[in-house]
Amino acid sequence: MGPLLLALLTALGLRAEVLPPSNVSYSVVQICTLKWTWKPPENVSSSCDLEYSTDIAINGILQGKSEWSKKLFRVADVPMNKEVSLKVRSECKLDNATNPSDWAESLIPPKGVPDTEASNISCIWHNLKSMVCTWLRGKKASDRTKYTLYYWYEGLQSHQQCEDYHIHEGTFRCAFKFALAKSLYPTVNILVRGDSEEVRPICENKDPTTIVKPGTPKIVKLFNTNNGISIEWQQPDTFPSGCLVYEVEYKDSKSDTTTKIENRSNKTEIPSIHPKFKYTFKVRAKASLTCYSSQLWSDWSEEKSIGEESVNSDSTFYITLIVVIPLIVAVSTIILLVYLQRLKILILPPIPDPREILKRMFLEQNEDPQNYPKDGLVYAYDKLAKEEEINPVIWIEVLSFWLSYRPVGFCKNYSSSKTFDVIITAGKAVKLIYLI
Ligand SMILES: *[C@@H]1O[C@H](CO)[C@@H](O)[C@H](O)[C@H]1NC(C)=O
Ligand SMILES: *[C@@H]1O[C@H](CO)[C@@H](O)[C@H](O)[C@H]1NC(C)=O
Ligand SMILES: *[C@@H]1O[C@H](CO)[C@@H](O)[C@H](O)[C@H]1NC(C)=O
Ligand SMILES: *[C@@H]1O[C@H](CO)[C@@H](O)[C@H](O)[C@H]1NC(C)=O
Ligand SMILES: *[C@@H]1O[C@H](CO)[C@@H](O)[C@H](O)[C@H]1NC(C)=O
Ligand SMILES: *[C@@H]1O[C@H](CO)[C@@H](O)[C@H](O)[C@H]1NC(C)=O
Repeated sequence: MGPLLLALLTALGLRAEVLPPSNVSYSVVQICTLKWTWKPPENVSSSCDLEYSTDIAINGILQGKSEWSKKLFRVADVPMNKEVSLKVRSECKLDNATNPSDWAESLIPPKGVPDTEASNISCIWHNLKSMVCTWLRGKKASDRTKYTLYYWYEGLQSHQQCEDYHIHEGTFRCAFKFALAKSLYPTVNILVRGDSEEVRPICENKDPTTIVKPGTPKIVKLFNTNNGISIEWQQPDTFPSGCLVYEVEYKDSKSDTTTKIENRSNKTEIPSIHPKFKYTFKVRAKASLTCYSSQLWSDWSEEKSIGEESVNSDSTFYITLIVVIPLIVAVSTIILLVYLQRLKILILPPIPDPREILKRMFLEQNEDPQNYPKDGLVYAYDKLAKEEEINPVIWIEVLSFWLSYRPVGFCKNYSSSKTFDVIITAGKAVKLIYLI
């Protein structure tokens, strides 16, 4: 319908012919901000309701940000490292039908060598106090290239140079104070320029509300309550109340699984805890979406723990085990060796003269032979002494001898080299029975 209507209007002589605006030029208003101006076209018919339509192309691509206005200028932020052009044309508005002129264009080529401009520019607004920007050297920039960051935002009289500047492992970093006592925060223009004309400048605009990173909270209270554990932390003082959300993460000493809970206030409570576990907490903060549209979390707070069974006492327990078990084994081994030594003597005694041994034993143990039980060694000794020519059968019970051992447990028919049974039982006094 449009072309048809235009054709009709032209045929009727109603269509107003119009020329493009003249003398389009630009000036720099602020870093990263240009102002284009133009003059009205010549010979505008009186029936023409003149307006200007403008659009901006970056590297030849229209940004789709058309504006219609009767004003003779347009202000826009530009990236500086790309070719920017402003396109403007005149339009005679006639009801809903427009009859545009050709485009008039103002082309601004970027300065410097391509790919020498700073790359990966990133800014973070720390705790609503300072803006910290980082960037990398351009791909084609020489290793000696130095960059300077300038910034400007509405309310600042003129642009400022960022002074708190560091280079660390190829990352450039600069911080400047950005703390405004109002809730409407202006866009911040950032211009990074090199130290020579060769280095291409680059501009970026940052909406501070989208890059808010709160300060690190600090856990100040952690205690057991009737129902669980209560935890309280200090919120960064720069934020208006209700503008932060917190994430509390905790784990217990046993399962090692972490649990996350969110809360808007500066304290919370963990219910139904296990009394034997140690709980470790940390907190971080994020700006709430009601105040800022930032997704950046603060750093985690220092961890704090509560609970009896600490990792420490666990490890001391294991260290104790590691020390005590070998010690017990060693002592047992020594005892066993000593015992085996005795057992060896007991089982494999030197081949003695039984009369000598019995005599010696008897005399050692009992100075006075009358004190020794009559049915014991005395009897055996007497019998042995008297009837040594007869083949005796001697049963010896050696009892309770593995600690207070004396070498009594042997029996032998020494004249005919026949061996005898020896019965060893524990827990009783020595009893020697001599049978023929
Ligand atoms: C437009 O620019 C031309 C030269 O570029 C100049 O002669 C002329 O005066 C300018 N016109 C206006 C209205 O400024
Ligand atoms: C404007 O109109 C005048 C007279 O009508 C004419 O001489 C002049 O060439 C026109 N200018 C343009 C740019 O068409
Ligand atoms: C112009 O267009 C608007 C909607 O685009 C419509 O409401 C209006 O009636 C139109 N005017 C005329 C004169 O056609
Ligand atoms: C820099 O940005 C480019 C493109 O956005 C990306 O591919 C690259 O990984 C970034 N480099 C670093 C070091 O972040
Ligand atoms: C937590 O918030 C309350 C109320 O806003 C305040 O009175 C208290 O001091 C805060 N606690 C800490 C540790 O900041
Ligand atoms: C935050 O913690 C308080 C105190 O423990 C609690 O009453 C409140 O329900 C919690 N809010 C959320 C959203 O978890």
